[in-house]
Amino acid sequence: MPDIFIPDALPQSSGPELTGRALFPHRHLLSIADLKPWEIRFLLDEAEHWAQANKGQARKHDGRLAGMTQINAFFENSTRTLLSFEIAGKRLGADVVNMHAGQSSVKKGETLIDTAMTLNAMAADVIVIRHASSGAVALIADKVDCPVLNAGDGWHQHPTQALLDALTIRRRKGGFEGLIVAICGDVLHSRVARSNMLCLAALGAQVRAVAPPTLLPPEVEMLGAIPFTRMDEGLDGADVVMMLRLQNERMDGAFIPSPREYHALYGLTPERLAIAKPDALVMHPGPMNRGVEITSTVADHPDRSAITEQVAMGVAVRMACLDVLTRGARGVEGWA
Ligand code: NCD
Repeated sequence: MPDIFIPDALPQSSGPELTGRALFPHRHLLSIADLKPWEIRFLLDEAEHWAQANKGQARKHDGRLAGMTQINAFFENSTRTLLSFEIAGKRLGADVVNMHAGQSSVKKGETLIDTAMTLNAMAADVIVIRHASSGAVALIADKVDCPVLNAGDGWHQHPTQALLDALTIRRRKGGFEGLIVAICGDVLHSRVARSNMLCLAALGAQVRAVAPPTLLPPEVEMLGAIPFTRMDEGLDGADVVMMLRLQNERMDGAFIPSPREYHALYGLTPERLAIAKPDALVMHPGPMNRGVEITSTVADHPDRSAITEQVAMGVAVRMACLDVLTRGARGVEGWA
């Protein structure tokens, strides 16, 4: 199925500040573009609560989703995101069911709408979907009766990844105002980059998109980022360096001369990291291709790398999203 490109505009910057129990006015979580800055901050605050609760061995189970069924419908491969949503749901007490594309009727020619109807007939309380086509998750969300969380659709969006990245940055750097974040690598094929550009720009960071000209999409400025084609310029003075994998599975033809040459020009080495601020944070959504976009010395740096922290924040963010989106159905006071 060809990928449909769906441009997103920047989230609106105005909106009521949250006081007390204000509502989160969305049924689904499909794109960062749907969220106002205060809604992003609200989800980060909720996730921070779970990050605290998840700490250490004394971590407690929370039964607030007990009796609810969470279906993780993954039409595209995933390790960490699927596991993270599964752990998040289970920590909240939900009955979690995983559906893998390899075992589903999609392989037998079923249409997306039929799949959506089937999922709906299972009477799930929340559905988490990953799909290789941009826009597919929104299409399914339109056909089902429960909240839908986008766990990645094609090149388009991966909102919980952007939220977990923002939470990691906020915890390490204290805030976003004036922060320079360089998102480097295969920006063209990356839903992580698109979600992060919107999210971090909405939170007040200065976002840079650093990529070879062939991997830099024309819409980065519309998504809130400044384009760079040279690493030394893009990394200069950066507080956060977020590296992206070459999405070879989405490349139709040669976008780079060779992985070796790509590494020589765009790989994050200790020398290149030295161009950024002395305390610059290194991030990567995973899976990493060591020796291509990042060297092991940088990826495993004890103080500078936040890569494992990102994974931990993923569980907290997904717990927050699952909780918030099901509040209406659970009859939590003040939530429709
Ligand atoms: C990313 C994804 O699937 O978009 N991974 C993730 O969710 N942790 C990035 C990638 O696949 O490179």
